[in-house]
Amino acid sequence: MIYFNFDAIVAPPLATIPQELIEQEMKKQAETGKTSMAILNSNCEIVEKPEVYYASRKLGLPGVFGQFMTVINNDMIFPDRFSLELTNHCNFSCKMCPRSVMTRKKEFMSRELFCKIVDEIHEFSKVTAVNKVDLYRLGESTLHPDFGFMLDYIGKLDTPFPTQLATNGSRLDEKMIRKIMDSSLTYLVLSFNAQDAETYRNVTGGAELSQTIKALQNLKRFRTKRTPFIMLQFVEQEGTHDKLEEFVKEYIDSCDIVISSSLEDFGGQLKQNSAYVEKHILGDGDGGDRLVCPRGVWRRAMIYVNGDVVPCICDINASYTKMGNVTQSSIKEIFDSPQWAEFVAMHKECGEKLLKHPLCGPCSEWKIMTGYNKRFTPKIVSNQ
Ligand SMILES: C[S@@+](CC[C@H](N)C(=O)[O-])C[C@H]1O[C@@H](n2cnc3c(N)ncnc32)[C@H](O)[C@@H]1O
Ligand code: SF4
Ligand code: SF4
Repeated sequence: MIYFNFDAIVAPPLATIPQELIEQEMKKQAETGKTSMAILNSNCEIVEKPEVYYASRKLGLPGVFGQFMTVINNDMIFPDRFSLELTNHCNFSCKMCPRSVMTRKKEFMSRELFCKIVDEIHEFSKVTAVNKVDLYRLGESTLHPDFGFMLDYIGKLDTPFPTQLATNGSRLDEKMIRKIMDSSLTYLVLSFNAQDAETYRNVTGGAELSQTIKALQNLKRFRTKRTPFIMLQFVEQEGTHDKLEEFVKEYIDSCDIVISSSLEDFGGQLKQNSAYVEKHILGDGDGGDRLVCPRGVWRRAMIYVNGDVVPCICDINASYTKMGNVTQSSIKEIFDSPQWAEFVAMHKECGEKLLKHPLCGPCSEWKIMTGYNKRFTPKIVSNQ
């Protein structure tokens, strides 16, 4: 059994699952007093909420994926999750990372662009749910010379939205840690991805695990409040396969949450990952017809360092699904554009057009995200 805490991870918008089903579920929750915990078994099925899971499968909705539950909300007026790529520079060269095929110009997001984006999200967060804003995408944000300014800027908002930083930890010296711990950041993901020093060197392209462990110890030492939640990320791949349990035993007491992410190959774009994904994640199981891809309908916006907006993380170079650029338009204008509506419609129809799409057609990420062949097991372990 894997315990999966919705509250600590994300507050999912529950829409488009039939109302009576939700009411039934809520009634059950009220009776049992359990509201925020869902229990998943190793087949990625929510044991405590089977009605919702099976209803969403029947409707072609992505009932369970990745770390949390998602459903399609037809009434959204604005994306509910953002990834802001503060920079696409990085000082590591992790072997599984999509940066290896990134050809976009490497740069740092300007203060001006950052403030424009944050201001727009902030305005909308007052009238619609903004579940999370990631302060990273394909790079190491702590390398940004204005990183402190950016944290301060978000912290000064009258109603700050939830934010998440994922970092390799290499720049987490005492000064940086104090800055982060005093900021309004909600989630801090420290990417470990290895159970020992040798594997860590291998995964990261030569970095030292001892440095990351020291950063982790200091994060706890300089903690002044409950947030940011300290989360350790562990991606299973060659060299770390089946080592999650070992990792959890070693580190669960040093953090709030351990997240085991499934290795992705971004629809086969990362050849180095494909063999592992095929063998250990996708396998040869047949999960039936193609299911609606949660990423294609989830209204999540990646805002790359130069302002380009794409709806799916798989578009590493913004070459297939660019929806606009925030230096030229507002996020709202881009979100309301015909090309965004077409992209979502194509996914909801889940037919010929999707199969012919150059990125989504051959993509297999949706299988991982939907637990299609039931080999994918999202694992989140919390010591909260
Ligand atoms: C691309 S990194 C950027 C942020 C930061 N540089 C870091 O490493 O945390 C964001 C997260 O993606 C994870 N990641 C990288 N490649 C991945 C892959 N192929 N599949 C799944 N997760 C991956 C990393 O472990 C990290 O936690
Ligand atoms: S540190 Fe992060 S961005 Fe850099 S290579 Fe590793 S996973 Fe990719
Ligand atoms: S099918 Fe693949 S590329 Fe298309 S939205 Fe889903 S995950 Fe992204």
